[in-house]
Parts: sequence; structure tokens; C-alpha cells
Amino acid sequence: MSESKTNLLVARDLTRHYQVSRGFMKGHATVKALNGVSFELSARRTLAVVGESGCGKSTLARQLTMIEPPTSGQLAIDGVDVASADKGTIRNMRSKVQMVFQNPFASLNPRKQISAMLDEPLKINTTLSKSERDERIRAMIATVGLRPEHSHRYPHMFSGGQRQRIAIARAMILNPKIVVADEPVSALDVSIQAQILNLFMDLQDQYGTGYVFISHNLAVVEHVADDLLVMYLGSAVEYGAKSRIYQRPMHPYTQALMSATPAIHPEDRQIKIKIQGELPSPLNPPSGCAFHKRCPYAVERCAKEVPQLREIDQRKVACHRVEEINT
Ligand SMILES: Nc1ncnc2c1ncn2[C@@H]1O[C@H](COP(=O)(O)OP(=O)(O)OP(=O)(O)O)[C@@H](O)[C@H]1O
Ligand SMILES: [Mg+2]
Repeated sequence: MSESKTNLLVARDLTRHYQVSRGFMKGHATVKALNGVSFELSARRTLAVVGESGCGKSTLARQLTMIEPPTSGQLAIDGVDVASADKGTIRNMRSKVQMVFQNPFASLNPRKQISAMLDEPLKINTTLSKSERDERIRAMIATVGLRPEHSHRYPHMFSGGQRQRIAIARAMILNPKIVVADEPVSALDVSIQAQILNLFMDLQDQYGTGYVFISHNLAVVEHVADDLLVMYLGSAVEYGAKSRIYQRPMHPYTQALMSATPAIHPEDRQIKIKIQGELPSPLNPPSGCAFHKRCPYAVERCAKEVPQLREIDQRKVACHRVEEINT
């Protein structure tokens, strides 16, 4: 994970706060949706981002896809700093990062045939002729496992899995450097999930795309991830190679998430932690370590001092007591 020229994506202290109204005459409050997150992604690699609902995963996706600018921090995409870039630069960079959403029905235009939907980004972003575009669309439809006759059908004529294949085709048609997939299989039947995950992996082999794969489900990301970023209330609590973290989760929150996912290595599971209480609000986050109120190992220091991510056992962990609780 060292910083090098091969990094497609480098995020440093990426932060996104939202100002929200508290009601008439009450002024504004700040939602700290994303609080200084740092990571890297290189070509042909998949970074999985996991954490409970509301921890800031989709907010992170919106920064990476340049849908909205970060409040602060740095974001370099393919070597270009986009966090402070002008509109023209952002416009040029947009085609390099594409997104796949959870619900393919909502993200596909119901009035457009599949071929027209795939043609749109090609018309806007390339100088290909009509016949070259048709050829690219034909090839992409086959690549994602659909049949040629599907190209003249409308989204409602497909199953959920097929619709997600179409959404993936649309994301891949411009051959982006990066695809950000936000819960791309969560709305699908379990039997279909594996097929779509395999499609993601095949496309990565073929095109060398870097993936940011967002999921609340550790069992889903186990087979696709190279690296893992575990988020809690807008911050990274554990970050490193997936194999390391799955083998030996070290942050109490990661341990709790793993023990709540029975599909993962049920035979050699030693750590059993239950998370107590509700996820706190990013409007009013707890002092010190954001996890301390739910953590079985919390001591006084945890309520006072914010733990920084630091290297331990070949990954990074943000926990004051990580050494003590993992001996
Ligand atoms: N535009 C916005 N204005 C105000 N608050 C926002 C906005 N977008 C997100 N939030 C808040 O930021 C926090 C993080 O939201 P986000 O959607 O990123 O979470 P998530 O991890 O994607 O959750 P889920 O798993 O449910 O999709 C939440 O508390 C959410 O209410
Ligand atoms: Mg989300």
C-alpha cells in the first residue's frame, strides 16, 4: 500500500461535512459524515469499504465519483488532484470514474432501450463513429453476459440480476480507470449475487479496472477484496490487506462485525464480540474514540482521546488498546 505512481486513487484526510438546519430559529448543525479518511487504490485491485448503515460509505462514494466536492482533504485520481480542481478539470476526469448503484432499476432510465443507454456516454465522451459505437456496444453487451437481442429491450423487461449487468455495462463502456460500486449486489437474490460478483472479477481481469467496492456485508466482500477499509461513524478504524484482517481482525469493531457474519471461517472463529447499543449520530458523535460507548474494552482514555490509525501487525488500526486486547 505504499504510495507510488501506480496508484489510481489516493485519498488523504478526505472529509465531508453537511450543514443541516435544526429548525426555525435554531441555527445550523454539522453532520460529520466523513472525517479524514485516507487510502490508496491501484489498477487491478479492489478496495472494499465496509461498515454499518450511516457510517459514511455512500458519502465517500460521492467524493470519489466527484458528484460533490469534499469539505477538506486531498483526492488524487490518476495523478490529478480533483479535490481542489476547477470545473473543467473535473468534467474531464469524470469519465475515468464510473459508478454502479445498489438498485439497478432506479439507476436505469425506464424509457431508453439498452443500446441507447449505452450509446449515450459514448456520444458525449468519445469521437467514435456510429458504426464504431455500435460495435463497442455489441461487444460490451456480450461481455456482461447478455444476448444481442437484449440491446433493443427496455429495463423493465429484465430480471434484477440482468439489470445489474446492464448497469455494469454502462459503467464499463467508457473503459474507466476506476469503478465505485455502492452495495451492487445487496438488492439481489443470494444465488444471483455470486454471478454478479464473478462478472465484476472477470471485467477487472480483462480491463485492469480498480474497484472501490462498498458493502455492509463482510461475507460479500471476502471474495472480491484485496484491501479492506473498515469504517465507523465517518472514520477508518482498520485498514489493510484483506487477508490479514480476515485472518486476524484487531479493532474491536472489526472483530464485532466479523463475529456477526457467520459465513466467514466459522470453524476457527475465536473472538466473539457483540456490539452493544445503537450507532451514534454523526450530528453528535461521542467524544474520544467514536466507538467507545459500544466497545467492551473501553477505558477512561477512550472517552477522551481520539485514537489515530497506526501500524500494527501489517495493517493500520485506530484503537488505544489494540495491543492489550490482541495479546
Ligand atoms: N446530503 C446530506 N445532508 C445531510 N446529511 C447527510 C447527507 N448525506 C448523508 N448524510 C448523513 O451522513 C451520514 C452518512 O451517510 P451515508 O449515506 O454516507 O451512509 P452509508 O454508510 O452509505 O449508509 P447506508 O449503509 O445506509 O447506505 C448519515 O448520518 C447521513 O444521514
Ligand atoms: Mg449508502
